[in-house]
Amino acid sequence: MNASKVAYVLDFDGTITERDITREMARHYGGKHYDECSAAYGRGEFGMKGWLARMSAHLPSDTAELLAFAGIRAGLRPGLKEFFISARAKGRPLYIASDGFGLYIEPILERHGCREYVSGIFCNETIAAGGRLETLTPHAHRSCPVCGNCKAALVIALREKGFRVLYVGDGFNDRFAAAYADGIYARDRLAEICTAAGLPFKRWDHFHDLLGDDQFAGEHGNHRFCDPQGMDGVDLRSDNSGGIQMKKIVSGVTIECVRGDIVAQPDLEAIVNAANAQLRSGGGVAGAIHRAAGPRLEEECRLLAPIKPGEAVISGGYNLPNRHVIHCLGPVYGRDRPEAALLANCYRNALRLAEENELESVGFPAISTGIFGYPVEEAAAVACRAIAETAPALEHVKTVRFVLFSESDLAVHRKALEKLE
Ligand code: APR
Repeated sequence: MNASKVAYVLDFDGTITERDITREMARHYGGKHYDECSAAYGRGEFGMKGWLARMSAHLPSDTAELLAFAGIRAGLRPGLKEFFISARAKGRPLYIASDGFGLYIEPILERHGCREYVSGIFCNETIAAGGRLETLTPHAHRSCPVCGNCKAALVIALREKGFRVLYVGDGFNDRFAAAYADGIYARDRLAEICTAAGLPFKRWDHFHDLLGDDQFAGEHGNHRFCDPQGMDGVDLRSDNSGGIQMKKIVSGVTIECVRGDIVAQPDLEAIVNAANAQLRSGGGVAGAIHRAAGPRLEEECRLLAPIKPGEAVISGGYNLPNRHVIHCLGPVYGRDRPEAALLANCYRNALRLAEENELESVGFPAISTGIFGYPVEEAAAVACRAIAETAPALEHVKTVRFVLFSESDLAVHRKALEKLE
């Protein structure tokens, strides 16, 4: 294994921040429900997924209020930014994996000027729906009832990409992911658990402690202690499907919809970029993908550009957990005509490239429906039809996933998928 290929996975609450904001939020707004719910969680009556579902029902539905609550408590552990800068200088991607409410992570990182150093944030999504809050768990394990966010899946996906993974955490629910990592930095409860389980780790107090030599455990021990409720032996490889909202099998190809972030789909072999003609970084999807993949993606893209509406090209995934990125240029609504044919070509050409490269799974954002202004209902119908028409010709591609950013876009795509003959 290439010793220089190292990635960090960091927990957020109590690791990046000094305080556990999710717990403080739940305690503040939940009152006695927090005590009861946490006691039941402690007795193993349900896992974090159940805890989040119960506690989010007690939060106010005003997300601005919650962000203000989080902001006041968002002190970062000393040395974080220096550590982020040093990781970037060493060419090591950084991922955050959190099993809290999730909504405040990005704003806190932005506020402290740290967001740009992070390649991907794998967290739950707390959204206001019908006047109350709900926490969605798009990265839950398909069959495991314990965690909301299967952090271990991210560690495993990075290891499968050839990274040696250093896990940094503090808490009880970091234990599974830490056990699959190549090196563990632990404090507080995680340090106690590692000690009890005989897992080698380095104790850390603040981020300056991570600037010195790396602490690898030697050979990956594969300590699968992910089994508090008899779930040992679960195949964690395709772990990102707990949040799948709808599935349909068309000519042997599973088409599914999930609400989430296109750069947080570690179980897919390729993700699709809603690109610009020059294949540069941009806003929306293009910005997220280039940020997460790192500068080498733009270098490769320079050789592939320019592309025309409807065309697609394929590149490496670099620091993304996916092997490839397929870049499509969607039509600008009202300018590039005929829009529907050009948009359908994006999906057809992307799938053709996936097939030629013998890829099994591809994730699409809703191409053209952002800055390019394509109405989402129309675009979803075109996209579903194009995928269904291409499906019979696919031998390698078995899974096609729509990754939708908003609840309403998810609903629209579900409907379009349901309507498919
Ligand atoms: N994950 C999933 N979906 C996302 C993400 C993300 N990280 N970011 C944005 N989206 C959603 C948007 O909400 C929208 O519904 O993806 C859809 C496509 O949005 P855009 O990224 O704006 O793509 P598009 O409309 O095709 O415009 C492409 O935007 O960023 C520029 O340089 C790019 O010029 C190009 C144009």
